[in-house]
Amino acid sequence: MNPRLAQTSAPVLPTLAERWSPRAFDDAHEFPEGALRGVFEAARWAPSASNTQPWRFILARRGSDSFAKIEAQLMGFNQMWAGTAAALIVNVAETADAEGNARPWAEYDLGQAVAHLSIQAQSEGYHLHQMGGFDRDGISAAFDLEARLVPVSITAVGAIGSADSLPEALRERELAPRSRFDLDDIMLVRD
Ligand SMILES: Cc1cc2nc3c(=O)[nH]c(=O)nc-3n(C[C@H](O)[C@H](O)[C@H](O)COP(=O)(O)O)c2cc1C
Repeated sequence: MNPRLAQTSAPVLPTLAERWSPRAFDDAHEFPEGALRGVFEAARWAPSASNTQPWRFILARRGSDSFAKIEAQLMGFNQMWAGTAAALIVNVAETADAEGNARPWAEYDLGQAVAHLSIQAQSEGYHLHQMGGFDRDGISAAFDLEARLVPVSITAVGAIGSADSLPEALRERELAPRSRFDLDDIMLVRD
């Protein structure tokens, strides 16, 4: 029995139950050029408000200049582990159109695209770990993003590694039981 498997009170898709966010990635695993195409196709076909599709991505494979630029903007507690992932993805919301009209659902839509991307990647045998701990202004400057393009999160993706490769404190968190609120705690109304 996989101890990381989500314990659910009703069946869910196996890929959803199996998804979790490791910090130990296999530092020998690499993505060839052009990899992850299906993963971004999954994001591309997510729904969005008025079909505005306000998601943009920066894909950086380990070893590239872009990867180094992203890694440099991670908070220290993420820099401790994320550099071993085969790729880092910056998830960017287009918060206004080219004329400056606000897109109020841009971050919501981006999150949904990232969820699709995550599940596709998981189903292809990869693992992912999203991060909010990074310097947004630093990423914007490093990639010369205009103000309406907001970097919201960064996703580490690759093949899972051994928890033994992590520093002690992270290893404990890697192996700690996963938890969630009960279903009754998140349902405001179930009529
Ligand atoms: C928007 C967002 C930001 C997150 N930021 C970080 C982060 O900076 N560092 C980190 O180690 N994990 C981060 N996480 C991972 C969460 O801590 C993790 O998803 C949560 O604890 C549930 O664990 P699970 O994904 O294994 O089910 C983030 C997740 C999301 C969705």
